[in-house]
Amino acid sequence: MMQTDTQRVAEIDRMVRLFYERSFDDPVLGPIFFDEIHDLEPHILRVADFWTDHLRGTKKYKGNTYAVHMKLKFEPEAFDNWLKVFESAASDSLSPDDAAKAIRIAHHMAGSFKVGLFPFTGKDGRPSRVPD
Ligand code: HEM
Ligand code: HEM
Repeated sequence: MMQTDTQRVAEIDRMVRLFYERSFDDPVLGPIFFDEIHDLEPHILRVADFWTDHLRGTKKYKGNTYAVHMKLKFEPEAFDNWLKVFESAASDSLSPDDAAKAIRIAHHMAGSFKVGLFPFTGKDGRPSRVPD
């Protein structure tokens, strides 16, 4: 059955909501999101705009994702949790093609964020924000 455009955008809205439901339940992401996101609904709409641009070719999102994450305090391992939750939310709400595309973009951004935010290697061999 052909999907209407509305259904295709509704899938993205569902994906973002599922992502936040599961993130708030995640032991690593939950406390970060709880501390930082005080007004969830406008946040969800902004993130949905971001994904609609990349999956549907719109130009809705106005922002700078890297700058937003620069201000956050979290350990590099949080990316593993983030990607795991994102993959599950994308796979459970998007078509297989869209899910694969979104997951590819998310991995690219997580990798870029990680080298940008944790450019050094600490004595323990973990990515670090500061030089040894
Ligand atoms: C924090 C830094 C970065 C962010 C937030 C970022 C974000 C993005 C986003 C959102 C896309 C669009 C994907 C799509 O709609 O299909 C993209 C594509 C791309 N980026 Fe980055 N990027 C970053 C750093 C980099 C760096 C350092 C390189 C190269 C060394 C790079 C190379 C590319 C390439 C080649 C594409 C197009 C191919 C693709 O879609 O996979 N990016 N990036
Ligand atoms: C360790 C992993 C991550 C954590 C803990 C995290 C956490 C957060 C938090 C707390 C916010 C809200 C900040 C605020 O409103 O002030 C946010 C915004 C956002 N995040 Fe992440 N994030 C992570 C990785 C990623 C990745 C890999 C992507 C790639 C798609 C991403 C995409 C976004 C977008 C699009 C926004 C909205 C930015 C805006 O408001 O303009 N995040 N993130």
